[in-house]
Amino acid sequence: MLYELLKHLHIATVNLTFALFVVRGYWMIIDSPMLVRHWVRVVPHVNDTVLLIAAIALTVLGRWHPLTDGWLTAKLIALLLYIALGSLALRPGRPKWVRVTAWLLALLVFAYIILVAVMKDPWIF
Ligand code: HEM
Repeated sequence: MLYELLKHLHIATVNLTFALFVVRGYWMIIDSPMLVRHWVRVVPHVNDTVLLIAAIALTVLGRWHPLTDGWLTAKLIALLLYIALGSLALRPGRPKWVRVTAWLLALLVFAYIILVAVMKDPWIF
């Protein structure tokens, strides 16, 4: 019951993360001042924190093991890659083509994370 509730919370925050990342990427591409608005910087962090807390709670309650359950290991490594690419894309200072490429690659990595989560298998191909 609690597990199901946390899983819903995890998936809801995953959806919001995705939506916010797509919108911020669009604002980056059109050079919108929205990207540096205070709430646009804060809301994704709050949401990502809830996402991670739910993820850790699911891992503990479900007795998953991040280092021996291969799908979870893959998810964690892919998450680090997603964070690195995401900050490259959304922080100012790099040429536009670098930021757009990083944004597109981050979206691919995000899709990989979802497929791994659903299939419970790092080898999705
Ligand atoms: C951007 C990052 C993440 C995304 C997009 C994501 C996505 C998902 C999705 C879509 C599911 C539902 C799978 C299904 O319906 O069967 C899920 C479940 C789960 N995720 Fe994540 N997740 C992310 C981060 C994490 C992290 C960092 C952890 C571990 C620390 C984690 C642990 C779990 C666990 C334990 C489940 C429940 C597995 C189950 O009972 O089916 N997730 N995740």
